Amino acid sequence: MHKKLFIPGPIEVHPDILKACSTPMISHRGKDYEDLHGRLKSKLRAFFNAKGGSIFLFTSSSTGAMEAAVRNLVGKCVLSCTCGAFSERWFEIAKENGKEAEACAAEWGFANKPEEIDKRLATGKVDAITVVHNETSTGVMNPIEAIARVVRRYPDVMFCVDAVSSMAGVKIEPEALGIDVLLAGVQKAWGLPPGLTICYVSDRALAKARTVPHRGHYFDFVQMKKFDEKNQTPETPVLPLLFALDAQLDRMMKEGFDNRYARTLEMAQACRAWAQERFALFPEKGYESVTLTAVLNNQGADIGKLNAELARRGAMISEGYGKIKAKTFRIAHMGDISMDDLRWLLGEIDDILRLKG
Ligand SMILES: Cc1ncc(COP(=O)(O)O)c(C=O)c1O
Repeated sequence: MHKKLFIPGPIEVHPDILKACSTPMISHRGKDYEDLHGRLKSKLRAFFNAKGGSIFLFTSSSTGAMEAAVRNLVGKCVLSCTCGAFSERWFEIAKENGKEAEACAAEWGFANKPEEIDKRLATGKVDAITVVHNETSTGVMNPIEAIARVVRRYPDVMFCVDAVSSMAGVKIEPEALGIDVLLAGVQKAWGLPPGLTICYVSDRALAKARTVPHRGHYFDFVQMKKFDEKNQTPETPVLPLLFALDAQLDRMMKEGFDNRYARTLEMAQACRAWAQERFALFPEKGYESVTLTAVLNNQGADIGKLNAELARRGAMISEGYGKIKAKTFRIAHMGDISMDDLRWLLGEIDDILRLKG
């Protein structure tokens, strides 16, 4: 039986998108591809509301673009803001790539705070900062606008943001916020199958990359830009997902980007209210994610058993992640999931656990 995915990626994919993935192949060095590439860039420019910068399409999951950001932009040292598993992973990726890195750490469940970041940037030691906008492991959404206001006071610092589980569910305009790298894989709020990452790179980031040695081969921004000017990618792109992205952008424009964000927020509010009546929320108050709800399992519910019963009824939610696996569970409400889908899921959970609000 098909299980509707309410996990924070991969998420349920609309049948029209699955159909777009099966479009017959084209040559990635021909005019059809160049047309597709150019069309995607102009739709993505509208999506990001960006006039300058570049938009690169990475044939990889998000981790590839996280690695690219540090390889291309860290000359001196990077400040890695950590608050959960994925932000900690970016810190590790920097060190694994031979970069000097320092952590600006918040406890799991808490957000990275602008004041703390300000203090750390004021030392003048770092030339880049990494922030995960939506920490999928803890369900915390970092205050990206307030953080952006602080980071922009340090013009030599490259501002790299992972919006992997928020982009297309929450409005983030990189140019307005002064973000240098904004990246997201497409299997979450974009509602596509996995394997493609969308990455905005500012003009000043591209200029900085030209000065950083050992950028590697596959994700060298300078090389990517050279091909992007011809509406191509340096290596073979993941064509089925680019067809799907083209179709999904059309669907999103039809719904309206702002309507999509409003729908996602409305689902978050409903899911939080449901969770608070029955359990408690894991994230620090005021920093709850809009695209997924991390619930503190203070009722000791057996989430393994719950998921087994949900599977029989055609759905799947997520256990907690890493060191909070047993303490929490997560419900994703992003992409093309609707309020009716969410209400149905929550009703099924109530029925299985015999919970009442
Ligand atoms: C916030 C965040 N960053 C990075 C990643 C890594 O993505 P991927 O495994 O697709 O490379 C994930 C995956 O869930 C994530 O949620």
